Amino acid sequence: MSTIILAIESSCDETSAAIIKDGKILNNIIATQSVHENYGGVVPELASRAHQQNIVPVITNALRNANIHKSALSAVAFTQGPGLLGALLVGSSFAKAMALALGIPLITVNHMQAHILAHFIDDPKPRFPFLCLTVSGGHTQIVLVEDFLKMQVIGEAKDDAVGEAFDKTAKLLGLPYPGGPLIDKYAHDGNPNAFDFPETEMSGLDYSFSGIKTAILYFLREQEKNNDHFIEENLNDLCASIQATLIKMLLQKLKKAAKETGIKEIAIAGGVSANTGLRNALQIEAKKRNWNIYIPKFEYCTDNAAMIAMTAHFKFLAGEFSDQRTSPNPRMSL
Ligand code: KG4
Ligand code: ZN
Repeated sequence: MSTIILAIESSCDETSAAIIKDGKILNNIIATQSVHENYGGVVPELASRAHQQNIVPVITNALRNANIHKSALSAVAFTQGPGLLGALLVGSSFAKAMALALGIPLITVNHMQAHILAHFIDDPKPRFPFLCLTVSGGHTQIVLVEDFLKMQVIGEAKDDAVGEAFDKTAKLLGLPYPGGPLIDKYAHDGNPNAFDFPETEMSGLDYSFSGIKTAILYFLREQEKNNDHFIEENLNDLCASIQATLIKMLLQKLKKAAKETGIKEIAIAGGVSANTGLRNALQIEAKKRNWNIYIPKFEYCTDNAAMIAMTAHFKFLAGEFSDQRTSPNPRMSL
C-alpha cells in the first residue's frame, strides 16, 4: 500500500500544502501573502488572518490537483516551528483536526530541518555528511548534516539573520518588503565594488549582520546631505555593493567550516539561497576548492510545503509521530 502524506506550512507569510506519495512530491501549492508589502516586514496579526483565509483553498487545491481523496491519506504533517506563533497555530490546528477526524497519525516538522531536506526532493542529492548553509529571513546557520534526521548547527548568526539584513537595508533604500529579491534584481546592473561597507567580524563560525545595516544607514544619511537623489541615482551600485558584502561574509565562514571539517559536499538552503549572486559565488568557490555543491530549485528555496512533506516522509519511515497534545514551538531549534 502506498504512503501518502499531506503537509502544511504556515510558519511565516506563505500558506502552503503539498502531497508526497512514497517519497515523491506530487505537488506544492503556495499562496503568498502580499498584504505585508507596504509595512516593511511581516505583520504577525495580518499573517495569521491571511493563513486563515488561505488554508482551506490551499489544502483543497493540493488534494484535488493530486487527485487524492482525503480518505487515502496515511498521515498529516505540519510545521511546528520556528516561526510566528499565530501563523503556526493556523497550520497546526488544521492538521490536528484533520488527523483526528481521519484517524491518521500526525507528524511535526522543524522548518529549518525541512529547508535542508528540500535537497532530497530532486537529484542530485547530497551525500552524508554534508554542510548546509541555511539562509532565510529568520536564520543564518551552518549545519553539519550527518543523516536525514541527524544534524547539528556548528555556526550561526548571533543577531540579525542575513535575510533580515537584505530586507532591512532594502527598506533603507525605499524598497518594499521583502526587499531581498529586489536587491538581487537591481544588483544585476550594478558595480559590486562601487561602495565599500564594513564586514562585522565574529569568532569561530558565527555571524553578525546587524552592523552592516547600521553602517549603511549612516552612509546613506551622510550622502543624502549633499544629494537628495543619491539613492535613486545609485540604486544599482548600492544593491550590488550591499549584496557583495553579505555574500562575502556568508562564504568566508562557510569556507572556514569546510576547511575545519574536511567536508566537500556543500549545500545551500532557505530563502536567501534564491539569490543569484550567492548562487554564482558558490559555483566559483566550488571550482576553486573541488566542492560538490547543491543548490535548490528556486521553488524550494523560499518557504514551501514540499520540503515539509519531504521531512515528514523521513519521519514516517523512522516512525516519529506526534499526538494531539503537540503544540507549535515558535523558537524551535534544530
Ligand atoms: O526561507 P524564507 O522564505 O522564509 C523564512 O523562513 O524566513 O526566506 C525569506 C527571506 C527573506 O528575507 C527574503 O528577502 C529572502 O529570503 N530572499 C532573498 C531572495 N529571495 C528571497 N534574498 C536575497 N535574494 C533573493 N533572490
Ligand atoms: Zn523558511
